[in-house]
Formats: sequence, structure tokens, C-alpha cells
Amino acid sequence: MPKPVQFDVDNNAKRDRWKETAKQNYVDLVSSLSPSSEASSQGKHGVNEKVQGSKDIVVTSEDGIMKIVFNRPTKKNAITLQMYEEIMLALKNASTDNSAMTVFTGTGDYYCSGNDLNNLINATGEIQEVARKSAMALREFVSRFIDFPKPLVAVVNGPAIGIAVTLLGLFDAVYASEKATFLTPFTHLGQSPEACSSYTFPKIMGSAKAAEMLLFGKKLTAREAWAQGLVTEVFPESTFESEVWTRLKAYAKLPPNAMKVARELMRKHEKQKLHAVNAEETAVILERLTSEESSNALMNFMSRKAKL
Ligand code: COA
Repeated sequence: MPKPVQFDVDNNAKRDRWKETAKQNYVDLVSSLSPSSEASSQGKHGVNEKVQGSKDIVVTSEDGIMKIVFNRPTKKNAITLQMYEEIMLALKNASTDNSAMTVFTGTGDYYCSGNDLNNLINATGEIQEVARKSAMALREFVSRFIDFPKPLVAVVNGPAIGIAVTLLGLFDAVYASEKATFLTPFTHLGQSPEACSSYTFPKIMGSAKAAEMLLFGKKLTAREAWAQGLVTEVFPESTFESEVWTRLKAYAKLPPNAMKVARELMRKHEKQKLHAVNAEETAVILERLTSEESSNALMNFMSRKAKL
């Protein structure tokens, strides 16, 4: 029998509340991300509409660039369930519209602090079932990035955490401000790598460096991330925005079909592998989400004992 988790009285009460609300939030998560609800999202926003989304994800299209902005600065741009849904819809639209490339960036001092931990903390219900649905939804989200057909660029304006970092292994170019940092604290949270990072990170930076990030949660500076191949180029904070956007606007004028086919040639042999890794990672995440290590770490975040 596994050892029962020992909580203090205060944490026990919080844990009970957490269990009670868990089911509904995860059901909401899955229904918001499942293929069937995507149709209703399309109905809501319209296919290939210039998606405005909620205020937390802002999507604009200009100069051949579809720009997707994490716009929740008071929460360090942490990604809520609604934001996941809007990002998937924006990617779907971007894959068929006439933009040449898609660029992610963040508003305020952070690029993105990763998954909103309240998505998990507030989740209720049978833990096995909600974890299964959560893992399925994550797999679907990541597969949209694997299959995305156009150049995908990140303009990392500040610190990036968790899935905001792991996804970068699926991007074509990552431009970082010198004040950006890169942190994947999965083991601190009792969780495991996602977005194919268990495959892309060792491939990009070598297994010894990838292990420091994915096993030990070492935070990289922008220059370290550049030296390890995760970042394409680092810019001084003062000129970051102007230099990067000038460059991207020039790139977006290149013949879009030539860029698409070049990209496809670079990626086609990897796609099947990436989907297999995605499936494997989400199977492990399913186990992790139900683990004592994970629930203890989330309780710590909630009680604000553990800041990363
Ligand atoms: N999920 C939920 N809320 C988050 C968040 C996240 N990933 N990141 C930041 N926030 C919230 C904080 O709870 C806080 O909310 P509040 O003002 O209602 O209390 C607000 O954003 C500002 O963050 P705060 O912690 O006060 O700022 P900070 O500069 O001291 O620390 C972080 C910023 C990002 C280092 C810290 O919030 C943190 O560690 N967040 C968790 C990051 C994480 O583990 N992500 C998942 C990785 S798998």
C-alpha cells in the first residue's frame, strides 16, 4: 500500500476543496479542447476570422505575420484553459490564411509562466479520470504545433517557464531579449516533460545539458539558452523589439510557398517520431498527475511556500 500523504489540518481542508472542484474543471478543459467543441469554437469565431479572442490571448495579422500574444501580464501570462483553446483556434486559422509566418510573444515583463497551476489546483472529481482527460487535451494541443505548416517563431520578451519553454523545441526560430530566462521545473512540481522536449532538448543541446533543465530544473539565461542551441539569437533589451520585428517583417516578405516547402523538407522525417514522443510523454504525465509528488507540489504552490 502506498504511504498516505501527511498534510497539516489547513492543507487537508484545501486538499478536500481541491478534490471537490477538480472534476468539473477538467471536464471543462477537455470539452473545451476536444475536436467536437472545436466546431463550436469555429462557429463562435468563424473560420479564418482575424481572431481577436479573449483579452488574455490577442491575435492580430499584419505584414504577413500572424501574431499570437500572451496577454495576461498580472498573472505573468500563465495559460488558462480558455487560452489553450484560443491558441489552438488561432493556429488552425493561421495554417490556412495568407500569412507567411506565425509569431508568439508576451505582454509585460514575462513571456509566459507556463500552465496556470490553478487549472490543476481547482480541478475536481475522480482523479484518474480528470488526469486522463487532461493528458489527452495536452496531447492534442502539442500535436497542433507538430503539424503546423508554416514558420513558427517565438519572440521571447522575458522569462519563460514550463510549456512556454518546452514548446520552443518545436519552433523554427527563437529570438530572445537578454532579460529572458528559460525554466522547466517539472521535477520540482512532481511532473514530467511535455511538448516533445524529452526528445527535442537532448537533440538540440545534448543529453547532459538537457538533463540539467529537465531533471534538475536549472534556469538558463538567454545567453546560456543561445549557447545550447535553444535560442537563435539574443538581443539587447533596449533594441530587442525594433530589431526583431524589423527582421521578421523582412522574412515575411519571402515567397511563402518556398518557405513552406523548405520547412516541410526539414521536418517531414521527424513528424512521426514527434507524434510518438508526444503520445509517450502524455502517458507519463497521466501517471504523474495522479502522483503524491505532484499533488504535494501543487499544494505548496497554493500555500505559496514554494516559489520558483
Ligand atoms: N499559474 C498560476 N498563477 C501564476 C502562475 C502560474 N503558472 N505564474 C504566476 N502566477 C500568478 C501568481 O500566483 C500571482 O498571482 P496573485 O497576484 O493573484 O497572487 C501573479 O501571477 C504574480 O506572480 P507572483 O508570484 O506574485 O510574481 P513573482 O515575480 O514573485 O513570481 C513566478 C513569478 C512566475 C516565478 C511565480 O509566480 C511562479 O513560480 N509561478 C509558477 C510557475 C510555474 O510553476 N509554472 C508551471 C511550470 S510547469
